[in-house]
Amino acid sequence: MPNERRPVPDFLYGTAWKEDRTPQLTELALRMGFRGIDTANQRRHYFEAGVGQGLAAAYAAGVVARSDLFLQTKFTYRPGQDHRLPYDPDASLSVQVAQSLASSLAHLGTDYVDSYVLHGPATGYGWSYADGEVWEAMCNERAAGRARFLGVSNVTLGHLEQMVAAHAGTPTFVQNRCFAHLKWDRPVRFFCQERNMLYQGFSLLTANVEVLQHPWLIDLAARTDATPAQVVFSFARAVGILPLTGTSAAEHMRQDLASRDLALSPEAVQTIESLAG
Ligand SMILES: NC(=O)c1ccc[n+]([C@@H]2O[C@H](COP(=O)([O-])OP(=O)(O)OC[C@H]3O[C@@H](n4cnc5c(N)ncnc54)[C@H](OP(=O)(O)O)[C@@H]3O)[C@@H](O)[C@H]2O)c1
Repeated sequence: MPNERRPVPDFLYGTAWKEDRTPQLTELALRMGFRGIDTANQRRHYFEAGVGQGLAAAYAAGVVARSDLFLQTKFTYRPGQDHRLPYDPDASLSVQVAQSLASSLAHLGTDYVDSYVLHGPATGYGWSYADGEVWEAMCNERAAGRARFLGVSNVTLGHLEQMVAAHAGTPTFVQNRCFAHLKWDRPVRFFCQERNMLYQGFSLLTANVEVLQHPWLIDLAARTDATPAQVVFSFARAVGILPLTGTSAAEHMRQDLASRDLALSPEAVQTIESLAG
C-alpha cells in the first residue's frame, strides 16, 4: 500500500457526470477539504479537461498545490468511449495507452498522475491478451515516471486471479462498484487485503439504497448523531474500503468528509456487513 512520502487520502472525490459543472465542483471539493480526485479520460462520462480547470483555479487561489494532491485517472477501451476519443483507435493498444495518458496529463496540467487505472478489462470473461498488453503499457508509463501507482477497475475475483498469475507485480488499487447484497464485494476485498492492494469502492450510496433505508441503520445513525450516508462511509473505511463520493452538494461534501470522525463499534460494523446479504 503506498504510504511513503505522500499517503493516499482517505476519501476520493469523483468527477463523473458533472459536465460543465466539473471545474466549479472540482475546485469546491478541494476548498471543502478533499485531496484525492478521481477522473477518467472518457469524455462520455467525465470532463477531464474541466477537472484540470478546477485544479488550476484552486492552485491560483492558493487552496492547494499539486504536491498536496492525489490525482487518479483511467484508460478506457474503445467500446467504453463515444466519438470523443483520447487516442487513435487504429493504433495498437500500447500506443493508445501512451496517447491517452499524455492527453490526461495535458488535461490535468501535470507531468504525472498518482494513480493510473485500467477502467475495466476488455471482457467480463477473464483477463485477456488485450488486457495484458494494456497492463504492460501502463507498467511502462509507471517506469517512465508518468504514473506513481497503477490500478484496475470493474474486475471480478476471476479477473484478478488471472491477472496476478499472468504478470509480475500486482496493482496497487482495485476500484469496484460495491453492492451490499454481494457482501460489499467481499471476495475481491479479501483478495486485495491478502495482497496489500487497496480497494476503492464507488456507488456506496447509489447501489445500496436498501441499506440506507434500513430501519436498523437509520436508528444507528440517529443514535450516533450522523446521517445514514455518513454511517455507510464510516463502515466502508472500517472494513478497509477507500470510499469515493461524487456529490455535487457542498453540504454533502462536508458531511462525507466529517464521516471520518465517526467511529462505529465492531458490532455495528459486523451488522452492516450482513445487513443486505
Ligand atoms: N470505475 C468506474 O467504472 C466508476 C463508475 C462509477 C463511478 N466511479 C467514480 O466514483 C465516483 C462516485 O460515483 P458514485 O457512483 O459513487 O455516485 P455519486 O456520483 O457519488 O452519486 C451519489 C448520489 O447520492 C446523492 N447523495 C445523497 N446524499 C449524499 C451524501 N451525503 N454524500 C454523497 N452523495 C449523496 C448524490 O446527490 P447530491 O449530488 O445531491 O449530493 C448523488 O446523486 C464517480 O464520480 C466516479 O469518479 C467510477
